[in-house]
Amino acid sequence: MKLTDSPVQTKVEELLSEMTLAEKIGQMFQTDPGTVLRSYHSKIEVSTPVTGPISERTLSKELISNLGSILSATDAQTAYEVQKVFLQHNRLKIPLLFMFDIIHGFRTVFPIPLGLASSWEPKLAEETSRVAAAEGAASGINVTFAPMADLVRDPRWGRVMESPGEDPYLNGQMAAAMVRGFQGDDLKALDTIAACVKHFAAYGAAEGGRDYNTVDMSEATLRNYYLPAYKAGIDAGAELIMTSFNVYDGVPATTNSFLLRNVLREEWGFEGVVISDYTSLWETIFHMSSKDGEDAAKQGLEAGLDIEMISTEYISHLEQLVERGEVDVALIDEAVRRILTLKFKLGLFDDPYRYINIEREKEAHLKHEYRQLARKAAQKSMVLLKNDGILPLKKDVKSVAVIGPFADSGRILGGWSGLGKPEEAVTVKQGLINKLENDVKITAAAGCDYSSNDVSGFQAALEAAASSEVVILAMGEEDHMSGEAGSRAYLTLPGVQPKLVEEVLKLGKPTVLVLFNGRPLELKWYHEHVPAILEAWFPGTEGGNAIADLLFGDANPSAKLTMSFPYTVGQVPVYYNCLNTGRPKGHEDNDFRFLSKYLDIPNAPFYPFGYGLSYTEFTYSDTALIGDTLTPGGSVKAMVTVQNTGNYAGEEIVQMYVRDLWGSTSRPLLELKGFHKIHLAPGEKATVEFVIEPEMLSYFTAKKQYEVEEGDFKVFVGKNARDLIECGTFTYTI
Ligand code: GLC
Repeated sequence: MKLTDSPVQTKVEELLSEMTLAEKIGQMFQTDPGTVLRSYHSKIEVSTPVTGPISERTLSKELISNLGSILSATDAQTAYEVQKVFLQHNRLKIPLLFMFDIIHGFRTVFPIPLGLASSWEPKLAEETSRVAAAEGAASGINVTFAPMADLVRDPRWGRVMESPGEDPYLNGQMAAAMVRGFQGDDLKALDTIAACVKHFAAYGAAEGGRDYNTVDMSEATLRNYYLPAYKAGIDAGAELIMTSFNVYDGVPATTNSFLLRNVLREEWGFEGVVISDYTSLWETIFHMSSKDGEDAAKQGLEAGLDIEMISTEYISHLEQLVERGEVDVALIDEAVRRILTLKFKLGLFDDPYRYINIEREKEAHLKHEYRQLARKAAQKSMVLLKNDGILPLKKDVKSVAVIGPFADSGRILGGWSGLGKPEEAVTVKQGLINKLENDVKITAAAGCDYSSNDVSGFQAALEAAASSEVVILAMGEEDHMSGEAGSRAYLTLPGVQPKLVEEVLKLGKPTVLVLFNGRPLELKWYHEHVPAILEAWFPGTEGGNAIADLLFGDANPSAKLTMSFPYTVGQVPVYYNCLNTGRPKGHEDNDFRFLSKYLDIPNAPFYPFGYGLSYTEFTYSDTALIGDTLTPGGSVKAMVTVQNTGNYAGEEIVQMYVRDLWGSTSRPLLELKGFHKIHLAPGEKATVEFVIEPEMLSYFTAKKQYEVEEGDFKVFVGKNARDLIECGTFTYTI
């Protein structure tokens, strides 16, 4: 229902008509709890997560008393204190909004999004977001800065951990599912929170994978690859969207009217709130696209930015700009309407403390059923990259050594893990203890730390390994080596971990490598030398139990990669939905010189998009394409029979790709257009169908408009972007 004809809109207009210009502008400002309490000279001390370069500051009571929202109040007590002291001073008693980064869990931590997306289960992402919302809302939070829907192709960028991956369609499915999970069907419910899609737009394309770096791309690339997932989140009903730090077409997203007005408001019809990223409006000065703070404020308002996070250009300059007639107060009213509307929709005007209940909070976190969901999500997120048959391990093993910095570490939550506590996480060692009989000897030895060059722990680790029947290597990146400002120029295991792996392998024991990392790594050497590799990502609170479930066969790995793993960092960016070029190499053994290829590595990634193994085997057969002509309003159907020809029940993610054989612009070699995750018992087979309709083929063409062009399209089905079977070709004709 359009808000323009709802009772909420009447209340908003009434309130707006009573507000002074300063009060309106205050709604467009967001700061942290500490600044509020200090500004009121409150004796209350709070410690809240800091997610950017903040300085301890105090603002005048007059300014702070018009504030609109709070960043990172993360418990009911803090929210209560801040709301209470604020409402004592705010003339019209307009309640504060509380916002926080609930990315992959609040107190119960689920796998990082790059891991959860590897489940290819949007429903699972919806369930985990539901739980995260319930935990966060119980702590007074009204808005989460999620889903992060940035398409990613460069593993050097630390925030790939926060993304669903390199495909527009899959990313959109995950983003929409998370919005549904967070928001539920009633924003006034005490266990739902508003979702904020981010980072609009194309933040993941930072040059060199260096965070906050320049982004430069064509409008076609923006629209065909980077925008679809944000739009899926908006179409799912997200109430907010956050602007990104980067420029698009040379203009910072935070002051970019093409993005914020043309695309977001006019094309997509978005009516929600646009919030900046952390000081990103002020940072337009450093981008050298704003002369000063006043210019930044003017540009932000005219571009359509509603809330400025942390920096103070709006509250410092907008009033004078209006008084000098240099900005139109109607733009301020437009922004404030959206902010007040959100507060009404959340029920904050009915009761500013409706989400703030310290007793309820105590019961709301880390429930047993939440841990069970976290365990299931972790099982479904971990990707089996190699298995020479050593897995699953036998439970009657007599002794197990778990070696590496993650052997008994609770730091398996990853970046953006909310209020998750490492001490509440199940470690690999603890997961083995929980899994195996008491008489099994389990020895944990770190051998080294995450990233130093200290090898003094090697001996104890090697002794533990030598005296055990099986060795589990628990290696990876330290949690802060990915996430925001966590860019790496190398994609290797840090420190002396590679050396420790080599030394352990020399013992000749059955050895499994479990990896904890927030990005694709260079794994060729490990693939060639280690019998089995399980990509655990940062699996969250129940990681250790899920790893034990998988390693000992109580769960069968089913996850598949949503981001390509390169041979080497020199191959980056490498992604499946690439263009063919005018000199395609085609098959890997093509040694003709004048082709688009490397002299020293293949063109294909080491592990392709959609790749992941199981303990069983799935065979594909009887592919067919029903219909060779597609017309507007019609459909064609791709079919394939999949059989479980192994000895374990398991789930298979069957993928369907389309190749547009030619277009008004160069077209990707493959585009994922459908997937089904099916469960099959040993010997069982199923026929999987994919319906293809014209709108699925639409793209932003050379005419700079979205359309489906007539022509021929090949259809493929298979287990990943490399292992595909051609189903046939159809012609789209009007
Ligand atoms: C950070 C991040 C953004 C986050 C915001 C608030 O800089 O870029 O993703 O939501 O600040 O913490």
